[in-house]
Amino acid sequence: MTDSITSKKLPRTANCQLRTGSAKQRGLFITFEGSEGCGKSTQITRLAERLRQKNPDRELVILREPGGTALGEQVRQVLQYMDPSVSIVPEAELLLFAASRAQLVREVIQPALERGAIVLCDRFFDSTTVYQGVARALDPKQVEMINYFSVGGVIPDMTFLLDMEAAQGRERMKQRNAQSTVVDRMEQEPEAFYEAVRQGYLTLAKEEKKRILVIDAAASVEEVSKKIMTQLDKYFLSTPQHLNSSTF
Ligand SMILES: Nc1ncnc2c1ncn2[C@@H]1O[C@H](COP(=O)(O)OP(=O)(O)OP(=O)(O)O)[C@@H](O)[C@H]1O
Ligand SMILES: [Mg+2]
Repeated sequence: MTDSITSKKLPRTANCQLRTGSAKQRGLFITFEGSEGCGKSTQITRLAERLRQKNPDRELVILREPGGTALGEQVRQVLQYMDPSVSIVPEAELLLFAASRAQLVREVIQPALERGAIVLCDRFFDSTTVYQGVARALDPKQVEMINYFSVGGVIPDMTFLLDMEAAQGRERMKQRNAQSTVVDRMEQEPEAFYEAVRQGYLTLAKEEKKRILVIDAAASVEEVSKKIMTQLDKYFLSTPQHLNSSTF
C-alpha cells in the first residue's frame, strides 16, 4: 500500500514551477502536519514570533488549510461545522479540500513565494494523502493525482510532522474543546481512524525523508519549538540562497 501512496513519476522537488519560472526571488514554504491536537497551531505561532524577532523585514505569511481565501474559508465552514448528520462522501470531501487548496496556492501562496516571503501553512497536501488516501482508504493513486492537480507544482520546501500517540492527541483536543459547544465534524472519528492517520504520516515521512522532518510532539511546547528551530537552522546552513536573503 505504501508504495502506491507516492508515485515515483510525480515531481518531488520543492516549488518546481517557481524554480523553473521567471521569478528570481524565491520564498520559503514550510508546512506543519500531524493529527488533531499534536500542537501545529501552537508551534506555528511560536515560530512566527521567532521569525519576526529575527528578521522583522522579511515578509511572513501564515495560513491554514482548509481556508486562507474567501472561498477556502467557506469550504472550511462546510467541512468543519456543517450539521454532522448531513452526508459528505469521502470523494466529495477530498474534492472540497482540493478546491480550497487550489485557490490558496494560486491566490496566496505562489504570489507570496514569488515576492520572497516565508509562508507557514497549517496542513497542506500531505493531510489529504494521509486522511483521504490512508484513513478513508480512497485509491492513493487517485488522491495523489488530485493533490498534484490542486497544488500545480507548488510543493513545500520543508514539512514538520508533529508525531505523537493518537490517544494523547485526542486527550489534548478534549481539554482544548472543553469550553466549546460547537461540534467539529472533522474531530468525530473513532480511535482507529487517528491511529491510521498517525501510521500514514510516518510511512509518508519515510518515503520523503528529505522534505518531511518528524518531531516528537509529546515533549513540552518549549522542547518541540527548540527542535523545530534546530532543524530550520540546519536547513538555512545547507541552503545558501536563503542565507543570502537574510532570513535569520
Ligand atoms: N507540547 C505540548 N504539550 C502540552 N500541551 C500542548 C503542547 N502543544 C500544544 N498543546 C496544547 O494542546 C492543545 C492542542 O494544540 P494545538 O491546538 O496547537 O494543536 P493542533 O495540532 O493545531 O490541533 P488541530 O489539528 O485540532 O488544529 C492546545 O490546548 C495546546 O495548548
Ligand atoms: Mg490547529
